[in-house]
Amino acid sequence: MSNNTESFVVAIDGPSASGKSTVSREAARKLQVMYVDSGAMYRGMTWKAVREGVDVTDADAVIELMASTEWEFFIEDLVLKFTIDGEDPTDHLRSEPVRERVANIAVIPEVRVFMVDRLRETAEFGPLVMEGRDIGSVVFPDARFKYYLDADPEERARRRALELQETEGSGDVEQVLSSLARRDKIDSTRKTAPLQIPLGAKVINTTGMTIDEVVDLIVSEVNAERATSSVS
Ligand code: DC
Repeated sequence: MSNNTESFVVAIDGPSASGKSTVSREAARKLQVMYVDSGAMYRGMTWKAVREGVDVTDADAVIELMASTEWEFFIEDLVLKFTIDGEDPTDHLRSEPVRERVANIAVIPEVRVFMVDRLRETAEFGPLVMEGRDIGSVVFPDARFKYYLDADPEERARRRALELQETEGSGDVEQVLSSLARRDKIDSTRKTAPLQIPLGAKVINTTGMTIDEVVDLIVSEVNAERATSSVS
Protein backbone atom coordinates (compact mmCIF):
# COMPACT_ATOMS: atom_id res chain seq x y z
CA MET A 1 0.00 0.00 0.00
CA SER A 2 1.62 3.25 -1.03
CA ASN A 3 1.04 6.64 0.47
CA ASN A 4 -0.15 7.67 -2.93
CA THR A 5 -3.30 5.58 -2.73
CA GLU A 6 -3.99 7.06 0.71
CA SER A 7 -3.37 10.66 -0.27
CA PHE A 8 -7.01 11.28 -0.89
CA VAL A 9 -8.74 9.02 1.56
CA VAL A 10 -11.21 10.65 3.91
CA ALA A 11 -11.65 8.14 6.74
CA ILE A 12 -14.78 8.60 8.84
CA ASP A 13 -15.18 6.35 11.87
CA GLY A 14 -17.59 6.25 14.76
CA PRO A 15 -20.32 4.22 16.46
CA SER A 16 -23.64 3.45 14.80
CA ALA A 17 -26.17 6.28 14.66
CA SER A 18 -23.44 8.89 15.15
CA GLY A 19 -24.53 10.47 11.87
CA LYS A 20 -21.59 8.89 10.07
CA SER A 21 -23.45 7.35 7.13
CA THR A 22 -25.42 10.40 6.06
CA VAL A 23 -22.45 12.69 6.61
CA SER A 24 -20.02 10.44 4.70
CA ARG A 25 -22.34 9.98 1.74
CA GLU A 26 -23.06 13.69 1.51
CA ALA A 27 -19.41 14.72 1.98
CA ALA A 28 -18.39 12.36 -0.85
CA ARG A 29 -21.09 13.83 -3.09
CA LYS A 30 -19.96 17.39 -2.40
CA LEU A 31 -16.30 16.47 -2.92
CA GLN A 32 -17.24 14.52 -6.06
CA VAL A 33 -15.34 11.41 -4.93
CA MET A 34 -16.37 7.80 -4.38
CA TYR A 35 -18.30 6.82 -1.26
CA VAL A 36 -17.58 3.48 0.44
CA ASP A 37 -19.76 2.10 3.24
CA SER A 38 -17.53 -0.55 4.83
CA GLY A 39 -20.26 -1.69 7.23
CA ALA A 40 -22.31 -2.77 4.21
CA MET A 41 -19.72 -5.44 3.50
CA TYR A 42 -19.92 -6.88 7.03
CA ARG A 43 -23.69 -6.73 6.69
CA GLY A 44 -23.49 -8.48 3.31
CA MET A 45 -21.59 -11.38 4.83
CA THR A 46 -24.15 -11.50 7.65
CA TRP A 47 -27.00 -11.58 5.16
CA LYS A 48 -25.47 -14.59 3.45
CA ALA A 49 -25.04 -16.37 6.82
CA VAL A 50 -28.65 -15.69 7.78
CA ARG A 51 -29.87 -16.91 4.42
CA GLU A 52 -27.85 -20.09 4.64
CA GLY A 53 -28.89 -20.69 8.25
CA VAL A 54 -25.31 -20.45 9.51
CA ASP A 55 -24.88 -19.62 13.21
CA VAL A 56 -22.95 -16.33 13.29
CA THR A 57 -21.31 -17.22 16.61
CA ASP A 58 -19.74 -20.29 14.97
CA ALA A 59 -16.58 -18.71 13.52
CA ASP A 60 -15.45 -21.86 11.68
CA ALA A 61 -18.80 -22.18 9.92
CA VAL A 62 -18.74 -18.49 8.95
CA ILE A 63 -15.17 -18.75 7.62
CA GLU A 64 -16.12 -21.80 5.55
CA LEU A 65 -19.13 -19.96 4.18
CA MET A 66 -16.99 -16.91 3.37
CA ALA A 67 -14.62 -19.07 1.35
CA SER A 68 -17.48 -20.13 -0.91
CA THR A 69 -18.84 -16.61 -1.41
CA GLU A 70 -18.37 -14.71 -4.68
CA TRP A 71 -18.07 -10.94 -4.35
CA GLU A 72 -18.08 -8.51 -7.24
CA PHE A 73 -17.41 -4.81 -6.79
CA PHE A 74 -18.43 -1.97 -9.06
CA ILE A 75 -19.06 1.77 -8.92
CA GLU A 76 -22.47 3.27 -9.56
CA ASP A 77 -22.98 7.05 -9.36
CA LEU A 78 -19.73 7.37 -7.39
CA VAL A 79 -20.90 4.82 -4.81
CA LEU A 80 -19.07 1.51 -4.32
CA LYS A 81 -21.56 -1.34 -4.76
CA PHE A 82 -21.20 -5.10 -4.69
CA THR A 83 -22.99 -8.30 -5.48
CA ILE A 84 -22.78 -11.49 -3.44
CA ASP A 85 -23.03 -14.67 -5.48
CA GLY A 86 -24.41 -12.51 -8.29
CA GLU A 87 -27.19 -10.95 -6.17
CA ASP A 88 -27.55 -7.34 -5.06
CA PRO A 89 -28.02 -7.54 -1.25
CA THR A 90 -28.79 -3.82 -0.72
CA ASP A 91 -32.45 -4.24 0.27
CA HIS A 92 -31.59 -6.79 2.99
CA LEU A 93 -28.62 -5.11 4.63
CA ARG A 94 -30.63 -3.09 7.16
CA SER A 95 -33.13 -5.85 8.02
CA GLU A 96 -33.60 -6.88 11.64
CA PRO A 97 -31.92 -10.33 11.40
CA VAL A 98 -28.83 -8.77 9.79
CA ARG A 99 -28.77 -5.81 12.18
CA GLU A 100 -28.85 -8.03 15.26
CA ARG A 101 -26.11 -10.40 14.06
CA VAL A 102 -23.62 -8.24 12.19
CA ALA A 103 -21.53 -7.33 15.27
CA ASN A 104 -20.90 -11.08 15.82
CA ILE A 105 -19.68 -11.48 12.26
CA ALA A 106 -17.42 -8.44 12.63
CA VAL A 107 -15.55 -9.93 15.62
CA ILE A 108 -14.18 -12.83 13.54
CA PRO A 109 -10.53 -11.97 12.74
CA GLU A 110 -10.52 -13.91 9.42
CA VAL A 111 -13.60 -12.00 8.28
CA ARG A 112 -11.88 -8.72 9.15
CA VAL A 113 -8.71 -9.63 7.24
CA PHE A 114 -10.80 -10.41 4.16
CA MET A 115 -12.80 -7.16 4.42
CA VAL A 116 -9.74 -4.98 5.11
CA ASP A 117 -8.02 -6.35 1.98
CA ARG A 118 -11.09 -5.68 -0.17
CA LEU A 119 -11.49 -2.19 1.32
CA ARG A 120 -7.85 -1.28 0.63
CA GLU A 121 -8.28 -2.37 -2.98
CA THR A 122 -11.09 0.15 -3.44
CA ALA A 123 -8.57 3.02 -3.18
CA GLU A 124 -7.33 1.90 -6.60
CA PHE A 125 -10.60 3.19 -8.05
CA GLY A 126 -9.57 6.72 -7.02
CA PRO A 127 -10.15 9.29 -4.27
CA LEU A 128 -12.76 8.30 -1.74
CA VAL A 129 -14.64 8.86 1.48
CA MET A 130 -14.89 5.64 3.49
CA GLU A 131 -16.91 5.18 6.65
CA GLY A 132 -16.59 2.46 9.28
CA ARG A 133 -15.11 1.56 12.64
CA ASP A 134 -11.45 0.92 11.81
CA ILE A 135 -10.84 2.95 8.65
CA GLY A 136 -8.42 5.51 10.10
CA SER A 137 -6.86 2.98 12.49
CA VAL A 138 -6.44 -0.20 10.40
CA VAL A 139 -7.64 0.06 6.81
CA PHE A 140 -5.95 3.38 5.97
CA PRO A 141 -3.78 4.39 8.94
CA ASP A 142 -1.99 6.92 6.71
CA ALA A 143 -5.19 8.50 5.42
CA ARG A 144 -4.72 12.22 4.84
CA PHE A 145 -8.06 13.07 6.46
CA LYS A 146 -9.41 11.28 9.52
CA TYR A 147 -12.58 12.00 11.45
CA TYR A 148 -14.26 10.32 14.37
CA LEU A 149 -17.95 11.15 14.68
CA ASP A 150 -19.79 10.60 17.92
CA ALA A 151 -23.00 11.71 19.60
CA ASP A 152 -24.55 11.25 23.04
CA PRO A 153 -26.19 7.80 23.45
CA GLU A 154 -29.70 9.25 23.87
CA GLU A 155 -29.28 11.36 20.75
CA ARG A 156 -28.05 8.35 18.76
CA ALA A 157 -31.01 6.25 19.96
CA ARG A 158 -33.44 9.03 19.09
CA ARG A 159 -31.99 9.34 15.56
CA ARG A 160 -31.98 5.58 14.97
CA ALA A 161 -35.56 5.22 16.30
CA LEU A 162 -36.71 7.95 13.90
CA GLU A 163 -34.99 6.15 11.04
CA LEU A 164 -36.70 2.88 11.99
CA GLN A 165 -40.07 4.60 12.22
CA GLU A 166 -39.54 5.82 8.66
CA THR A 167 -38.30 2.53 7.23
CA GLU A 168 -40.17 -0.04 9.32
CA GLY A 169 -43.12 1.90 10.72
CA SER A 170 -42.05 1.54 14.35
CA GLY A 171 -39.05 2.34 16.50
CA ASP A 172 -38.93 2.55 20.26
CA VAL A 173 -36.19 4.79 21.70
CA GLU A 174 -35.66 2.69 24.85
CA GLN A 175 -35.38 -0.52 22.86
CA VAL A 176 -32.99 1.10 20.38
CA LEU A 177 -30.91 2.48 23.24
CA SER A 178 -30.30 -1.00 24.65
CA SER A 179 -29.69 -2.54 21.21
CA LEU A 180 -27.11 0.18 20.42
CA ALA A 181 -25.45 -0.31 23.82
CA ARG A 182 -25.17 -4.05 23.17
CA ARG A 183 -23.59 -3.50 19.76
CA ASP A 184 -21.28 -0.74 21.02
CA LYS A 185 -20.02 -3.12 23.68
CA ILE A 186 -19.26 -5.88 21.15
CA ASP A 187 -17.68 -3.40 18.70
CA SER A 188 -15.47 -1.66 21.24
CA THR A 189 -14.33 -4.67 23.29
CA ARG A 190 -13.52 -7.10 20.47
CA LYS A 191 -9.90 -8.23 20.21
CA THR A 192 -9.36 -7.39 16.54
CA ALA A 193 -9.66 -3.77 15.47
CA PRO A 194 -12.03 -2.54 18.18
CA LEU A 195 -13.91 0.68 17.64
CA GLN A 196 -11.52 3.43 18.77
CA ILE A 197 -10.54 6.96 17.96
CA PRO A 198 -7.81 6.58 15.31
CA LEU A 199 -4.49 8.26 15.93
CA GLY A 200 -4.62 11.74 14.44
CA ALA A 201 -8.38 11.76 13.93
CA LYS A 202 -10.43 14.86 14.54
CA VAL A 203 -13.31 14.08 16.92
CA ILE A 204 -16.66 15.68 16.11
CA ASN A 205 -19.51 15.32 18.58
CA THR A 206 -22.55 15.73 16.34
CA THR A 207 -25.09 16.13 19.18
CA GLY A 208 -26.82 19.42 18.51
CA MET A 209 -25.28 19.81 15.06
CA THR A 210 -27.18 19.47 11.81
CA ILE A 211 -25.99 17.07 9.12
CA ASP A 212 -25.15 20.05 6.91
CA GLU A 213 -22.98 21.61 9.59
CA VAL A 214 -20.94 18.43 9.99
CA VAL A 215 -20.65 17.92 6.23
CA ASP A 216 -19.59 21.53 5.67
CA LEU A 217 -16.93 21.26 8.36
CA ILE A 218 -15.37 18.20 6.70
CA VAL A 219 -15.74 19.39 3.11
CA SER A 220 -14.28 22.81 3.84
CA GLU A 221 -11.27 21.31 5.62
CA VAL A 222 -10.60 18.85 2.80
CA ASN A 223 -11.05 21.53 0.14
CA ALA A 224 -8.75 23.92 1.99
CA GLU A 225 -6.02 21.25 2.04
CA ARG A 226 -6.65 20.43 -1.59
CA ALA A 227 -6.23 24.07 -2.55
CA THR A 228 -2.89 24.40 -0.80
CA SER A 229 -1.32 21.05 -1.64
CA SER A 230 -0.92 18.57 -4.45
CA VAL A 231 -3.89 16.49 -3.24
CA SER A 232 -6.33 16.33 -6.14
O1 DC B 1 -21.75 0.94 10.24
P1 DC B 1 -22.72 -0.22 10.31
O2 DC B 1 -23.78 -0.06 11.36
O3 DC B 1 -23.31 -0.58 8.99
O4 DC B 1 -21.80 -1.46 10.77
C1 DC B 1 -22.36 -2.73 10.93
C2 DC B 1 -21.49 -3.58 11.84
O5 DC B 1 -20.23 -3.86 11.23
C3 DC B 1 -21.19 -3.00 13.22
O6 DC B 1 -21.41 -4.00 14.21
C4 DC B 1 -19.73 -2.66 13.19
C5 DC B 1 -19.17 -3.50 12.07
N1 DC B 1 -18.16 -2.79 11.30
C6 DC B 1 -16.84 -3.01 11.62
O7 DC B 1 -16.56 -3.76 12.55
N2 DC B 1 -15.87 -2.41 10.90
C7 DC B 1 -16.17 -1.58 9.90
N3 DC B 1 -15.18 -0.98 9.22
C8 DC B 1 -17.51 -1.32 9.57
C9 DC B 1 -18.49 -1.94 10.30
